[in-house]
Amino acid sequence: MNRTLLIKDGTIVTAVDTYVGDIFVENERISMIGTDLQVKADRTIDAKGKYVIPGGIDVHTHMDMPFGGTYSVDDFETGTKAAAFGGTTTIVDFAIQERGSSLRKAWETWMGKAEGKATIDYGFHMIMREYNDSLGREMGDMVKEGVTSFKLFMAYPGVFMLDDASIFRAMQRSGEIGATISMHAENGGVIDVLTQQAIAKGHKAPKWHALTRPARAEAEATYRAICMAEIADVPVYIVHLSAAEALEKVAEARDRGLPVHAETCPQYLFLSYENYEEPGFGGAKYVMSPPLRAKHTQKDLWRGLRNNDLQVVSTDHCPFCMKTDKQLGKDDFSKIPNGAPGVETRMSLLFDGGVVPGNISLNRWVEIASTAPAKIFGMFPRKGTIAPGSDADLVVFDPNQSTHWSAATHHSRADYNPYEGRTTKGMTEIVISRGNIIVEGGKFTGRAGAGKYLRRSPRS
Ligand code: URP
Ligand code: ZN
Ligand code: ZN
Repeated sequence: MNRTLLIKDGTIVTAVDTYVGDIFVENERISMIGTDLQVKADRTIDAKGKYVIPGGIDVHTHMDMPFGGTYSVDDFETGTKAAAFGGTTTIVDFAIQERGSSLRKAWETWMGKAEGKATIDYGFHMIMREYNDSLGREMGDMVKEGVTSFKLFMAYPGVFMLDDASIFRAMQRSGEIGATISMHAENGGVIDVLTQQAIAKGHKAPKWHALTRPARAEAEATYRAICMAEIADVPVYIVHLSAAEALEKVAEARDRGLPVHAETCPQYLFLSYENYEEPGFGGAKYVMSPPLRAKHTQKDLWRGLRNNDLQVVSTDHCPFCMKTDKQLGKDDFSKIPNGAPGVETRMSLLFDGGVVPGNISLNRWVEIASTAPAKIFGMFPRKGTIAPGSDADLVVFDPNQSTHWSAATHHSRADYNPYEGRTTKGMTEIVISRGNIIVEGGKFTGRAGAGKYLRRSPRS
């Protein structure tokens, strides 16, 4: 462990600036930024010709999550190691309330899953499977514990889905306590009927997952969520937005000045419906909700990121293995556990497919992958930027190297990589979590349990 660290001559990139300078780190925080700093440090890193960026913040992961009759295969140790290798130094995962049980119980359960295992800092959103007065009171208690966002589902009837009245009441309560409602926006009722009809007709293949979850079902739910939030007079954050039709609803609301935020994910920017047509059962790798969309949607999402209709790119990292978990749906697409790995590839894909071809600027890369999530979810300026006093969560990224992606070399426990065989320009060379080097030269130098729980702030 280095008590002091000097990163020299790097090209420092934040959401707003790009300049060459030195960063001095003391006691886990950035203490000085300048040119040609004359200070002694326990360790000096020469970052000449490399980008020094704030560590990535992934506000949508599911480690060790019970789902679809199994568990996501990364726990907080393997999942956060994978994150670290990909240049992500903070995650916000989801604790899940059990029906009839308390939010505190869920929070304690997820704290137990992460403590002693997480290699990077972590926080929690809370998934609520129901709403009542007692849970409403508990939402206030959770905010005091640093859980300042609550995810609600308009899909998965009988599992996670809430009725509109419950959603609306939770929204009103979020307004009273300064919390944010994150919404899984798909019309679960419509999808359920389409799924049953497809199964009755003998459609079993993975592609039917996408064919029974139309873009319009996402757009309808997105619009309904926005309308309910407008009536409740509260902000809303749409998670994993995949469809151009849904983006249109977000853009329209933002044009009207409503406090609506939305994230998309790399899978919707880099993969598409065609992936479901991989031979045999291969399409199961991409069974996630919402599903992958038509390829032309990608350009709409990039435009959304450029013009700030979309503010964040998170991963929805929810990995399952093809050899085991995904086989649960071998004879019925609706039984394929929903989710895919992504926490390690996010920063690199966004650089290679975003910055390099000019879809987004270098600063926008940092903004959508670190600064905006920190701001929206109550972590800024401790996280999400490079400034004196901020946590020294930093990445030295070499734009002149490249990275090859494969399940054989990635760090998730998933037995496949959705980007198998892809080479991305740029390489995450050194990753620093609160001043400690946790990845260097392709080796993990961090420690399970070194990650700390993040108490996030409510909206003021
Ligand atoms: O397919 C997905 N997205 N799995 C994780 C659960 C969710 O809805 O985010
Ligand atoms: Zn979701
Ligand atoms: Zn998710």
